[in-house]
Amino acid sequence: MSKIHVTTTINGDPVEFLADPRETLLDCLRDKVGLTGSKEGCGTGDCGACSVELDGTLVCSCLVLGVEADGKSVSTIEGMASDNDLHPLQRKFIEHAALQCGFCTPGILVAAKKLLEVNPDPTEEETRYWLAGNLCRCTGYDKIVRAVMDAAAEMRQEVA
Ligand code: FES
Ligand code: FES
Repeated sequence: MSKIHVTTTINGDPVEFLADPRETLLDCLRDKVGLTGSKEGCGTGDCGACSVELDGTLVCSCLVLGVEADGKSVSTIEGMASDNDLHPLQRKFIEHAALQCGFCTPGILVAAKKLLEVNPDPTEEETRYWLAGNLCRCTGYDKIVRAVMDAAAEMRQEVA
């Protein structure tokens, strides 16, 4: 099958790749672009390990075709830290030991970052609801939720 030339922006950088029309954005990111932070847990939109933003919308990249990224902007876990500084969410996940095997962590961080953009002061219930599409088989979620809420509090202080 002939490949399609995709021109996109990933984490602020212009990126081009050739995609099979049936290839998912997740596979393109991992296999064509070399960004392996997004994980494939299920491939069916159930686990959230592949979460990225596409033109600012949180999506499961296993449910998006790579060719759909043409002309759009993609944000992945690799773009979360700035220069040498971790994002507050990344720091708080470390401080709260909110990960064990880490497989779910990139997707949860991407999803949590979006939550704090749309709701900088989420309740615990709102945080749990927002992250309901991100499955973790290790942590039991409490540390994840605490880390997200602690990061939110720190980020609110930064802008105050
Ligand atoms: S790999 Fe995409 S939702 Fe599980
Ligand atoms: S830390 Fe292992 S799946 Fe979440």
